[in-house]
Amino acid sequence: MSHHPDNIAPHGGSLINRVCTPDQKAEFLDQADQLPRLTLDERALSDLQLIAIGGFSPLTGFLGQADYQAVVDSMHLANGLPWSIPVTLPVSAETAQPLKLGSNIRLDDPAGRFVGVLHLSEKYSYDKLHEALQVYRTNEDKHPGVKVLYAQSEINLAGEIWLLERDPHPFFPAYQIDPIDSRALFRDKGWKTIVGFQTRNPIHRAHEYIQKCALETVDGLFLHPLVGATKSDDIPADVRMRCYEILIEKYYPMNRIALAINPAAMRYAGPREAIFHALLRKNYGCTHFIVGRDHAGVGDYYGTYDAQYIFDEFDPGALGITPMMFEHAFYCKRTGQMATSKTSPSLPEERVHLSGTKVREMLRRGELPPPEFSRPEVAAELARAAQIPV
Ligand code: ADX
Repeated sequence: MSHHPDNIAPHGGSLINRVCTPDQKAEFLDQADQLPRLTLDERALSDLQLIAIGGFSPLTGFLGQADYQAVVDSMHLANGLPWSIPVTLPVSAETAQPLKLGSNIRLDDPAGRFVGVLHLSEKYSYDKLHEALQVYRTNEDKHPGVKVLYAQSEINLAGEIWLLERDPHPFFPAYQIDPIDSRALFRDKGWKTIVGFQTRNPIHRAHEYIQKCALETVDGLFLHPLVGATKSDDIPADVRMRCYEILIEKYYPMNRIALAINPAAMRYAGPREAIFHALLRKNYGCTHFIVGRDHAGVGDYYGTYDAQYIFDEFDPGALGITPMMFEHAFYCKRTGQMATSKTSPSLPEERVHLSGTKVREMLRRGELPPPEFSRPEVAAELARAAQIPV
């Protein structure tokens, strides 16, 4: 591993690239009308893209049954590598039935455009309740991840994939920095240690605090907001990206950060998703990954620090990326700064606790998040997006 030209090897040792060469693409386009056709939903499309660009290295396709079972039951692939979230392609039994093993299937995006190919190697049924309990730690369909799982079709298709072409992102082309590019970027900047940051919420001051605490000890910060599918009450990605742009322009050291989009769909699987998020950032070239309070959690399905404890269940060498854990950060009225209980002696009533959920609730009531919550420039942008007069 130490011989890898980058600071950190991709998961499994090499960066997967399943984007067609021009010749492969031409060949698939020639066959387009003869191939059986499958239309992907938003999540499957983003999974297809992430596999193709190496974000999900070592995966080269949608999981087969042995890998699926190993991931669900033991958070590892069948070959023993850590992997915590099943990446699957579910279809109905009627759709699966005529598809022949060993054949190529044309994959269309939700708009009906030919975007990829699946070389079908397996079809298998799976136990949704078991997957829910193992992956999400609950069988309640109120959980947004479980809800998606229960609504899925009943047969998983598996096999290697190809992406016909890597298109620029329709909304954030400038921030589409794929693993191959982020690795080159980190090399060019001379960063040896890079901390990745996952987020699906508009940036608030607790985020800023933990990012900057991390940045005190590493060379670079890879800000990697998720722009794939989220639940309907999350703040839309374009608003969140504007908040980031506004904030970093004024409050961040531009030469030590990189802002890029994470095209993944959100699962809300808390602890298991923290591992998945860390492995994804390892593939992007990060050496460290921030895990704060209730990472990738929703409601009160997970304990505040469950997403940190789960790292103890893995061999750190096999994970190959170092988590940087942070306690629940708050604004401390006594010291007039952001803090955690590790750094502040304040009493509970002196602490202003912040969360993305709270900001969303305030905006729904037509209120602006206060300066202890959000930088004023970010609050103004959120208000504008929520059509609240400032
Ligand atoms: S997440 O679903 O992507 O995890 P969010 O965007 O809110 O949600 O969180 C991004 C990261 O910041 C996660 O690692 C989360 O644990 C951390 N985080 C969010 N709020 C706080 C807070 N108040 N204190 C400490 N960490 C936090």
